[in-house]
Amino acid sequence: MKHTILLLGSGGREHAIAWKLTQSTKLNRLFIAPGNAGTAQLGENISINPEDFVAVQTFVEKNDVTMVIVGPEAPLVAGIVDFFKATPTIAHIPVLGPSKYAAQMEGSKEFAKEFMKRHAIPTAGYLSVTKENLAQGFAFLETLQAPYVLKADGLAAGKGVLIISDLNEAKTELAAMLDGKFGKASSTVVIEEFLDGIECSVFVLTDGDKYVILPEAKDYKRIGEGDTGPNTGGMGAISPVSFANEAFMEKVEHRIIRPTLQGLLQEKIDYCGFIFIGLMNVAGEPYVIEYNVRLGDPESEAVLPRIESDFLKHLVAAANGSLAKETLQVSPKTAATVVMASGGYPGDYKKGLPITGLQNAGESLVFYAGITGTLENPITNGGRVIAVTSLAPELSQALTQTYKTIDGIHFSDAYYRRDIGKDLI
Ligand code: AMP
Ligand code: GLY
Repeated sequence: MKHTILLLGSGGREHAIAWKLTQSTKLNRLFIAPGNAGTAQLGENISINPEDFVAVQTFVEKNDVTMVIVGPEAPLVAGIVDFFKATPTIAHIPVLGPSKYAAQMEGSKEFAKEFMKRHAIPTAGYLSVTKENLAQGFAFLETLQAPYVLKADGLAAGKGVLIISDLNEAKTELAAMLDGKFGKASSTVVIEEFLDGIECSVFVLTDGDKYVILPEAKDYKRIGEGDTGPNTGGMGAISPVSFANEAFMEKVEHRIIRPTLQGLLQEKIDYCGFIFIGLMNVAGEPYVIEYNVRLGDPESEAVLPRIESDFLKHLVAAANGSLAKETLQVSPKTAATVVMASGGYPGDYKKGLPITGLQNAGESLVFYAGITGTLENPITNGGRVIAVTSLAPELSQALTQTYKTIDGIHFSDAYYRRDIGKDLI
């Protein structure tokens, strides 16, 4: 059977997913809602808000969509999977992603921490605090060593985590968060022990029981070179990650991936789709920093080009509960992805600036993140504008190629980090 897919989302991750899906022998038609100027080259963009479930339903019914793939977390956290299951005319159409309840693995830090505690999954020690137990929160902070990690419980557009070196400032910030610094998202705050190590991202595709592990990646989250300045959605990614060697990944699988899936099963939590595990490698030992219920961005732009088997077949198998038969084939090459952003990002930035040179990619892959307009006249439309990926036998070669491609792409005030992957060469 060939599939008519509706892919939800509009970033570089969705461009990369769309690009991978178009390589499948199982693809009939691809719609992207709302998509961007990159996905428009691969399928049909439709102007539907992914969180308007009734509009999604109407489109799916009219266009004989056979599967929905959800890129970002918001529609999952808002319950799109439950909505489909509860609507008789579309209940038979699989939506790749977890239920609303299960999406709290990403949507609530407290939910995720309690889940990890119940299943003895290694993670930083923590205390969950509301206005009612603020005094207990202060007392817990006093037992910790600096720096102090404060996390808004709910989704806060990637901005809800504060890492503070001074105890008194941490106490002041804790009170401010509970007072609504991040709106409702910080009416509960999780205080965590600081984990000192190096981060990597591991992606698992599951049908709720069986699983495959996708290639891991390292994301470069800070805006500034040398990992300085504010956090962003991610300024670059590389895959594979040299320190995520066989011994480390064995620990990740046995101590984290399996207990996570067994925990979900035991608790009868309905889950299919991606589990993105943000890990800290602390002296060779993996600890979970966070779960996400989707693929990463820009990690997808580095990970998906390394997948050689038919990605759509894997996704269909995950949605149908038949993942066991699938063997994932992965290229041994290294992928290096660098994001070009609008000057000013992650703060205020201009939109609507013309972009030139997108056609000069050579052997690199150019994924559009914040680009609108036409193929002939592309213009910037977001903070992260482009993710350029190159594949090569060695990381250094992949980086050289990516930066060469970036040199040929221009828009006013473009900013990118020149040190992506350099720490691992
Ligand atoms: P999160 O939104 O939970 O991924 O946190 C954002 C970033 O804060 C992570 O990518 C880490 O760099 C950092 N972080 C979060 N929790 C900790 C922790 N317990 N120890 C050290 N760094 C952390
Ligand atoms: N790059 C991190 C994320 O997608 O959450």
